[in-house]
Amino acid sequence: MATSYKELGLVNTKELFAKAIKGGYAIPAYNFNNMEQMQAIIQACVETKSPVILQVSAGARKYANATLLKNMAKGAVEYAKELGYAIPIVLHLDHGDSLELVKSCVEGGFSSVMIDGSHLPYEDNVKLTKSVVDYAHAHGVTVEGELGVLAGIEDDVVAEHSSYTKPAEVVDFVSKTGVDSLAISIGTSHGAVKFKREQCTVSPDGVLIPPTLRFDILEEIEKKLPGFPIVLHGSSSVPIEHVRILEQFGGKLKDPVGIPEEQLRKAAKSAVCKINIDSDGRIAMTAAIRKVFAENPSEFDPRKYLGPARDSLKALYAHKNKDVLGSAGQA
Ligand code: G3H
Ligand code: 13P
Ligand code: ZN
Repeated sequence: MATSYKELGLVNTKELFAKAIKGGYAIPAYNFNNMEQMQAIIQACVETKSPVILQVSAGARKYANATLLKNMAKGAVEYAKELGYAIPIVLHLDHGDSLELVKSCVEGGFSSVMIDGSHLPYEDNVKLTKSVVDYAHAHGVTVEGELGVLAGIEDDVVAEHSSYTKPAEVVDFVSKTGVDSLAISIGTSHGAVKFKREQCTVSPDGVLIPPTLRFDILEEIEKKLPGFPIVLHGSSSVPIEHVRILEQFGGKLKDPVGIPEEQLRKAAKSAVCKINIDSDGRIAMTAAIRKVFAENPSEFDPRKYLGPARDSLKALYAHKNKDVLGSAGQA
């Protein structure tokens, strides 16, 4: 039987984005697959009084199970109240690739979906996105579309090279499809290695400093779509403190480099009102678990390593809400 997101106590993104644009901040969209990640997200967002988008990829949905996810989202709403503050919570499909998947998510309690036709020829992207908008809007569910291709891996879609969003296309795309928000490509990319070493400069202590995002393209898009919600994917910062812990305890990442926090802060003050973060959580969690394993080889109670991982995630998300996205205090 289909469940509406409203029955679960969730909200769509409409009002949240309108407020975020006016207020000059961005709503965090944190990816999750399991209970500890969800607990950390809710704890951090309640503590900082931030609205939040719980973001689920097709892979995460397969991993966690759709029925469990629906009930976890319902649980998240109750959990926030129990922690003392009823923050607005969105359950969002990340990188949806078909109308069938979208239908299944909407029937399973999602309040927002992304349809990612960015790798398709323009007219096919318009057609697919419009079919999703027609269906989703009939159920009160908001839709994110994408124009432009991010470098790196987009779920199952591998993009060798990025192609920045063409500002000349955005008005046509938004008016033909009726999307509620638009993900754009201005230099961010998925994963822990966002740029090639040769694109970066190297600091004296060996840290890679990436090139600046294409804020000129963002500005052009804002001029063409005044007040329209823009989304940034691939916005992990790959914090060096967590990378160092991961490496200290046996992990290896080749040439890790993310999007510097000050650039995300600048983006959040503009029409960018949703910022997607997954990799930073993965790194923080893995670093914390590696530390416990290395320091206590005899430990085999999952609570003893998942607990510290959850604490580290919570601190990471609270920091992002307060110091990067500016969503703290906006719930
Ligand atoms: O954009 C992709 C997200 O980081 C989700 O990744 O498909 O491995 O769950 P995933
Ligand atoms: P990161 O890999 O930078 O965390 O990006 C996540 C993302 O865009 C999910 O859609
Ligand atoms: Zn993404």
